[in-house]
Amino acid sequence: QYFGTAIDNPSLAPGGASYLPYSIDNSKYRKVAYNSEEFGQVTPANGLKWMFTEPSRGQFNYTLSDEIIKPAIKNGQFRRCHALVWHNQLPPWLTSQTWTASELLSVVRTHIAAEVTHYKGQCLHWDVVNEAFNEDGTFRPSIFYNITGTGYIYEAFAAAAKADPKAKLYYNDYNIETVGPKSDSVRTLVKEMRKKGVKIDGVGLQSHFTVGGTPSYEAQTANMAAFTKMDLDVAVTELDVRMQLPSNGMKLAQQAKDYNTSVMACKNTKRCVGITVWDFQDNFSWVPSTFAGEGDPLPYSSTTEKKPAWYTIAKAL
Ligand code: XIL
Repeated sequence: QYFGTAIDNPSLAPGGASYLPYSIDNSKYRKVAYNSEEFGQVTPANGLKWMFTEPSRGQFNYTLSDEIIKPAIKNGQFRRCHALVWHNQLPPWLTSQTWTASELLSVVRTHIAAEVTHYKGQCLHWDVVNEAFNEDGTFRPSIFYNITGTGYIYEAFAAAAKADPKAKLYYNDYNIETVGPKSDSVRTLVKEMRKKGVKIDGVGLQSHFTVGGTPSYEAQTANMAAFTKMDLDVAVTELDVRMQLPSNGMKLAQQAKDYNTSVMACKNTKRCVGITVWDFQDNFSWVPSTFAGEGDPLPYSSTTEKKPAWYTIAKAL
């Protein structure tokens, strides 16, 4: 089992990336990010998404993703790659056109063939399809689903398998960390894929939790077992535990317990291959800009100090 982190370009580049209008002191952050003893695995938080890798149709750009992947290879950190098909962060050329189903499926195939081929042998896991379901387990309306039905899912996995037969292919989603309508639907999808002979190796449990709201150890392990029973790997792919700000000692202590619960659930599940936190330092988290009033969800403070959660994770691993 690996323990890893998502890393984003602005936080990683020396001084905070040349395209930012300001510079940040991220020297301590960079040391931790590149330390393979601390993080045995890395996921680019944004750089591999469609809007960045294919900003114009047929024009591929791997600048941002290479910035994260290359040092990870050099440091011997395992690479999880995220995400090939998602309804968010799509390039305008894709979303502003009216496609027929066969055109859109060909766009999906071309995108995946190019990106997965570029990273052949470098991306050991791929999140092939991200967040295809609603909370009630029905398919989420998206440009892909509305035009192709579930066709895009099968095509996406088939294209990824063809481009890099050795990469482990994942379906990734949130609120599928416990048994319920949404995670049941993922299992149904996997059965359909297998019937059709389409390869899928694992399911990514995003695990964006809240302090005190983390599903119990029993609930998480039962859900993991429901997947692994189907001859699938599972991975905790985007773990963070956000709180209502401001932070205090009680919230930090509860947060440490919450992290422990998820880490132990994975540890004690044979086919849980590893755990990834969705970045590791509070000020670089996606949470404050997404959930009003919430934040501080990660094991390191904004000044790269270890929080209580860091110590419980280290002990659990
Ligand atoms: C987030 C990134 O962390 C943000 O920087 C970006 O603005 C939006 O996307 N689920 C996912 C991730 O699968 O790709 C998302 O990442 C967080 C939620």
